[in-house]
Amino acid sequence: MDLFAKIERLKREKNAVILAHYYQDPDIQDVADFIGDSLELARAAQKSTADLILFAGVHFMAEGAKILNPTRKVVLPDLRAGCSLSDSCPPSRLREFKKNHPDHFVVSYINCSAEVKALSDVICTSSNAIRIVEQAPKDRPILFAPDRNLGRFVMEKTGRDMTLWPGSCIVHETFSERKIAELRVRHPGAKVIAHPECEENILKLADFIGSTSQLLKTVIESEDEIFIVATEAGILHQMKKKAPGKTLIPAPPNQNCACNECPFMKLNTLEKLAQALENEGPAIDVPEAIRIPAAEALQRMLDWSNK
Ligand code: 13P
Ligand code: SF4
Repeated sequence: MDLFAKIERLKREKNAVILAHYYQDPDIQDVADFIGDSLELARAAQKSTADLILFAGVHFMAEGAKILNPTRKVVLPDLRAGCSLSDSCPPSRLREFKKNHPDHFVVSYINCSAEVKALSDVICTSSNAIRIVEQAPKDRPILFAPDRNLGRFVMEKTGRDMTLWPGSCIVHETFSERKIAELRVRHPGAKVIAHPECEENILKLADFIGSTSQLLKTVIESEDEIFIVATEAGILHQMKKKAPGKTLIPAPPNQNCACNECPFMKLNTLEKLAQALENEGPAIDVPEAIRIPAAEALQRMLDWSNK
């Protein structure tokens, strides 16, 4: 049976909804009920009234959905879909930091585990990080975890000094400054648009920096015609669909590899989506002792984003 038809049938039978991140494969984006960046997906998960939420993304995203909407069943097609940023901040090390620096206000990027969220004062995503840090208490030092690149970018934009956790995204650290410069010469007028998880040298040459949704919006709304896109290549699918006349060039990685594709995001496949709907698993569970403080930090983010 056609996989698309099978997924549609299972969605109806199970009263399920598919939430997908922009970094998913095109066919997964096409079966999704909602596609978004991390902030939009968190909001969609919180509002969902479906019995089953299938998260086509990575583990911390599915955990976030469960934290914000605990009465729904949340499934992730492949439990191995992790994240290098999340892995760079084990809860035990954050706990240790907090013990040694009890005065620090902890702002954590949403790309972290439920336990790390529970140890944080507030969460942020790449689309609201500046706004969140601007609202952090002025009389306390800040620890920004776990993405040092996003943290450095936010520090520059807000003027707030912060201690940066030494984490990074394996995908966003692969872009080649030299190859982007070469592309610019070959495509006069091309604009470089970059995700803030990219390294400082790439952000310095970017014409626009923003979350995946903000990059998509820029391509749709800008009068420019050619874009060199420095983020995970999955976003190009929606860019091509929503701005068909534009020329989109994925920023090349340093090596001759497909390193601009997230290996964790790409673990999800249509087959695994169908199986996850059928089995209603693997399901994500977060113990209440962790979920409650993690939900507080996430809810603070959602409240501060709307201010
Ligand atoms: P956004 O969804 O906030 O753009 O973040 C991208 C990302 O790396 C998700 O893992
Ligand atoms: Fe994590 Fe980077 Fe993959 Fe996003 S793209 S899930 S930050 S490893």
